[in-house]
Amino acid sequence: MVSTDKNLVATIVDLYFGATDTILSMLTWMILLFTNFPDKQRKFHEEIESVVGTNRRCTLSNRPKMPYTEAVAAETLRFGTALQGISHRAMQDTQFKGFAVKKETLIMPNFYWICFNLKVWADPDIFRPERFLDPSTGWFKRSDNLLPFSTGRRACIGETPARYTLLLFSTNLFQKFNIRLDTLGPQNGLKAVNSIVRFFVPSTATLVIK
Ligand code: HEM
Repeated sequence: MVSTDKNLVATIVDLYFGATDTILSMLTWMILLFTNFPDKQRKFHEEIESVVGTNRRCTLSNRPKMPYTEAVAAETLRFGTALQGISHRAMQDTQFKGFAVKKETLIMPNFYWICFNLKVWADPDIFRPERFLDPSTGWFKRSDNLLPFSTGRRACIGETPARYTLLLFSTNLFQKFNIRLDTLGPQNGLKAVNSIVRFFVPSTATLVIK
């Protein structure tokens, strides 16, 4: 590819939009999910308090001792399914699992299907971070079925900063706050708006200082 000013601008725009809406969507999904599943929020608080305490900030060095936090991030990435799919183009005629794919065909992965597949997750509509914990050790268990950053050569370039940002924002926010739904505000449950980035229909959350 020829490097031009146009390419440079397009790359910066890709990085900017790739990094902002996705992380915003994940953090707001996490807040909504915790307000709907308060027992999970309580377990998250307990881990933060026991590993980090209340007087200092959570840093990345705490991460290895925070399996529940890792599981919360994984389950939020699954449930939030930030990106519905990004289109790709077949660059040549090819065969894939018995299908003939013609050159120039538009190909769109269905991340929602991956994240809510009943055969894989059994109860996909339930926010259950424990599905990512090893039942015998309690440690975080990575699942090959979770692909929130996609896979292959065009997988998300920002996976590492995204994971770090999610961990730091969520732990430091929930270290200080209990968050619950305002019962007088709109109650939209976990309904989502389908777009390129998947947002939810806003409900009202209330921050309660611990
Ligand atoms: C929770 C946050 C994020 C999620 C869930 C996410 C997810 C994804 C997914 C699913 C793709 C599509 C890969 C494909 O086409 O197969 C993608 C692409 C991309 N993401 Fe992210 N992303 C996140 C954060 C970020 C951040 C923080 C950055 C930048 C620092 C970023 C930059 C990009 C770019 C530039 C691409 C296009 C890569 C390419 O086509 O080569 N993303 N992301």
